[in-house]
This record gives sequence, structure tokens and C-alpha cells, in this order.
Amino acid sequence: MRLKNLVRINTEYLVADDQVLDFNIYTVRPSDNTPLLLVGEDSNIANLKEILRQKQLGQLFVGKKDYKRFRLFMEGSITAMINDPSVSLQKKSEIIYTCAKDIMVDVFDDPRSGENLQRARNISDNIIRFASSRYDAIPSILKLGSRDYYTFSHCVNVSVFFIGLWLMIGHGTERDLREGALGCLLHDIGKSEIDDRILNKPGKLTDTEFEVMKGHPQLGHNLMQTQLSQRSLEVILQHHERADGRGYPYGLKEDQICDCVKIATIADVYDALTTERSYANARTPFKALLFMKEEMVGHFEHKKFTEFVHFLGGHHHGPPGD
Ligand SMILES: [Fe+2]
Ligand SMILES: [Fe+2]
Repeated sequence: MRLKNLVRINTEYLVADDQVLDFNIYTVRPSDNTPLLLVGEDSNIANLKEILRQKQLGQLFVGKKDYKRFRLFMEGSITAMINDPSVSLQKKSEIIYTCAKDIMVDVFDDPRSGENLQRARNISDNIIRFASSRYDAIPSILKLGSRDYYTFSHCVNVSVFFIGLWLMIGHGTERDLREGALGCLLHDIGKSEIDDRILNKPGKLTDTEFEVMKGHPQLGHNLMQTQLSQRSLEVILQHHERADGRGYPYGLKEDQICDCVKIATIADVYDALTTERSYANARTPFKALLFMKEEMVGHFEHKKFTEFVHFLGGHHHGPPGD
């Protein structure tokens, strides 16, 4: 194996002791950077940890062809990791956020892949599991949220905001939460069907380009129609509707829009305003909220917007004395 065929990995991500590897892990000889096989497939994580304890090793690698397998392996151990008290909050948040972003890159690359969609569903459920396990999970993930606007990190951020807000104020069932969160993760998936020249255009879109862009909720809905539940599809199709009925594509009124969509809409706008985009600078949280309150009158259900402001203000940080 040559060094140029290897990808560096972070073994801190390999936490579940009883999991069996289905790929080789390499290290390099410090004197001349020659790759050396460290553990072969069929070893388990406990073996690997034992070796790492005994030897002071530098960086670890997997073969480029095995990198996807390594990522699937990592994703498969997230549920166990969430319950592992020896892994820090920070580390858990990093692993979950990194995996979620990588999955979204793959989903946007190939939105018709059932495997990718299943990975999105798993990570969405794991974010919910993590958020339900401790009150500081959501703020910890949000701290990592990339402030550069990329559609895939935006989708993760919106889903995390949604889950946090839902756990605080949601009145529906566990199923609504799971389906709503998955809908948020995929809310802009219709953009995968839109020309990159429009999607990444610096500066203002022409009227025609804007009309094309406005097609993304319907495109996303069509793309996912046979794959997702009604609730998830509603989030995708309706996330640009407004409480005053002046949104798109249908101009639905406040009482025709479900709670999931209302929360998703607020999370979507807030995340977009607070990230750096090709045509606008990132606003501070305070300025974003002020903008939403004063310049976007009629967009959001008033009560939910107020609850969102409280959520950001730290009211989700657990009971007093916690
Ligand atoms: Fe959108
Ligand atoms: Fe969005």
C-alpha cells in the first residue's frame, strides 16, 4: 500500500469496543513514511485500542477505496457512542455534526440512492437521541455549525434548530418529531436539481432565475415523494410558505400550515441570515432576530417566533440549578 492511496482517519471516532472492523487500518513508519498495516479487517475496536495503548503511534490511515466503508462504520457506532459516558460532549457533537454533513454531501450528490436516504434517517434519529439524552447537546452542536453557507451544512443546522425547538415547545408525537427532523434535513434537496450557475451565483438573481430557484420545494417533493412520510414531505414542500399567505408555492394561510413546517420555516430563515452567503454577509444572532421581527412581518406565526427567541436566549439550558 502506498501513502498516496491512504486517507488519514481520526481513531477517536472509533468508540464501540465490540464492533468488528471491515477494513484495514495503517500507520506509517516515522523514519521514511512507509505505510505499515496496523490492524486488519476482522479485528475489533478493543484490539485496536489495546495496540494504541501499548505503542506510541502517529497518524492512522485507511485505504482510499475503504474510506466510504470507514464512514459507514463510524455512522454505525454513533448510537453506542451517544450512550458512552467516556466520550466527551464536545467529541460527541463533533462526530455527529461531521457525519451529518458528510451524509448530506452524499445525499445531494445522489438523492435517489435509498442507502443515502437511510443514512440521513439514521443520523436524524441520532441527533434526536443525543438531544434527548442531555440538555446541553443542542447548544454544543450548534456551536460547531458552519457559518459559511453550504446547502448541506445549512440542512444540518436547520434540522438541529428544529429538534431543539421542538423538544422545548413541540406539542406533537415522537413520530412528528422524527419525520419533521428528517424533513428539515432534506428541506432543500430540490436544489440538487437546480443549475449550479443559478445556485451559486454571486449577486442578485434575475427574475427568471428567481422563478427557477422558487421551484426547489416542488422539485424536492417530487424527488422524495415515494420515499418519505407525508409529514417529511410537507416540510420539504411548504418551507417557503408564510403565515400571512404570501409565501410559495401555494400561498397557504397560517391555519393551513402544520406546526412542524412553522418551526422549520423559522429555523431555515434564521440559519440563512446568520451564515455567510455569496450575496450577503452573516448577521449576528441579535441582528438576525431583529431583521426577522421588523423586516419580515407576516412571515412567521407570532407565538412560535417568540418561542424561538426564548430558545436562542438559553431557555433550553435546562431547569434552574441544573
Ligand atoms: Fe428552501
Ligand atoms: Fe433552506
